[in-house]
Amino acid sequence: MTETLSDIANAMVAPGKGLLAADESSGTIKKRFDSIGVTSTEDTRRDYREMLFRAEGMKNHVSGVILYDETIRQKAKDGTSLVDVIRAAGAIPGIKVDEGAKPLAGPTVDIEKVTEGLDGLRERFAEYYKLGARFAKWRAVITIAHGTPTWNCVKANAHALARYAALAQEAGIVPIVEPEVLMDGPHADHTIERCYEVTEWTQRTVFRELYDARVALDGMILKPNMIIAGQKAPKQASPQQVAELTIKCLKATVPAAVPGIAFLSGGQSDEQATENLSLMNQIGGVPWKLTFSYGRALQHAALHAWGGKSENVAAGQRAFTHRAKMNSLAALGKWSETQEKAA
Ligand code: 13P
Repeated sequence: MTETLSDIANAMVAPGKGLLAADESSGTIKKRFDSIGVTSTEDTRRDYREMLFRAEGMKNHVSGVILYDETIRQKAKDGTSLVDVIRAAGAIPGIKVDEGAKPLAGPTVDIEKVTEGLDGLRERFAEYYKLGARFAKWRAVITIAHGTPTWNCVKANAHALARYAALAQEAGIVPIVEPEVLMDGPHADHTIERCYEVTEWTQRTVFRELYDARVALDGMILKPNMIIAGQKAPKQASPQQVAELTIKCLKATVPAAVPGIAFLSGGQSDEQATENLSLMNQIGGVPWKLTFSYGRALQHAALHAWGGKSENVAAGQRAFTHRAKMNSLAALGKWSETQEKAA
C-alpha cells in the first residue's frame, strides 16, 4: 500500500523523533570543512555523511534526513546507496530542491534575497521520487535590517514556497516549508520583539499563499525559526521568553491541520537549540508536534570530533548520537542539564 502524504508527514514528526538537515550545498559544506581544515571533495563529503547516517543515534531519534542532490546519488564505501543506509536506520530520505537564495532585484538588492529553483521542478521531483525521496525542503530567507524586510520580499518568497509545495504534493512528496527569518548576518542587531513581528507577518503570508495554491495542510511540515533576538543584539532574551514568544507566534499563524513544526537551529548554540525546544514542549497545549530539523546544532560536535580522520569515526558518531538523543528528549519536553552532562 502506498503511503499518503499525511502518513509520511506524521512519521516525520513521530514522538521523540526529528529531522537531520544534512543538505548543505557544496559551497556551505566547504565552509564547514574549512573550519576543521579538511578539503571538501566528493569522497570526504561522502565519508562524513556516511559516518552520520551509520551512527547509533539515527535509529531511535531521527525520522528523516534532508539530502543534497549529490548525496542522494552517492554510494557508501561498501557500495550500498546512502539512501539505503538511511532507510536501514529506519529513517526517511528527503531532498533539498531549492537552488539557493539569490539577490532580489530592486532597491534592497544588497540585502534581500529570493529563493530560486521553480523552473523544471516538476521533472526534478519525478526523478527524486524515483531515487527514494519522500519529502523535500525549500528554504526562503528573510533578512531583518533597517527598512527590511520589504513586502515585495516577503510576498515573492511566500509565493515561491507555495508553488514549490503544490508541486511536491503533486509528486507524492511531503513539502517542508521553510521561511527562515535570519538571526545572523551583517545586521542582526534586532530585538526579539522585532523578530516576532517579522516572523508573524512572514508566516501569515506563507499560509495565505499555501491556501491560494490549495496545498493540503495535513501533508506538509513547517520549518520555522524560533523567535529570538538578532545575534548581534545587545540584549538577548531568556530561553523561557524565546519559548513563550515562539509558541505565541505559531498559535497566531499556523492552522491546526498541520501535523508538525520542525525548527531550524539558525546559528544558535547546540545546547541553546535543544533547551529552547524542550521548554516549548514543556509549555505544550498546541495542536502540532514540535520537533527539530537541525543542521548545525546536530552536526557541529560530530564534525569537530571527526576532524576528517578515519580513526575518529567512532568519536564523531558518539558526538552525533549524543546530540540526537538530547534533541529527542527535547522533542518530548524531557531534556535537562543533568542528562546533557551525563554523556
Ligand atoms: P540549521 O539548523 O543549521 O539552521 O540548518 C537547518 C536547515 O536546514 C537550514 O535550511
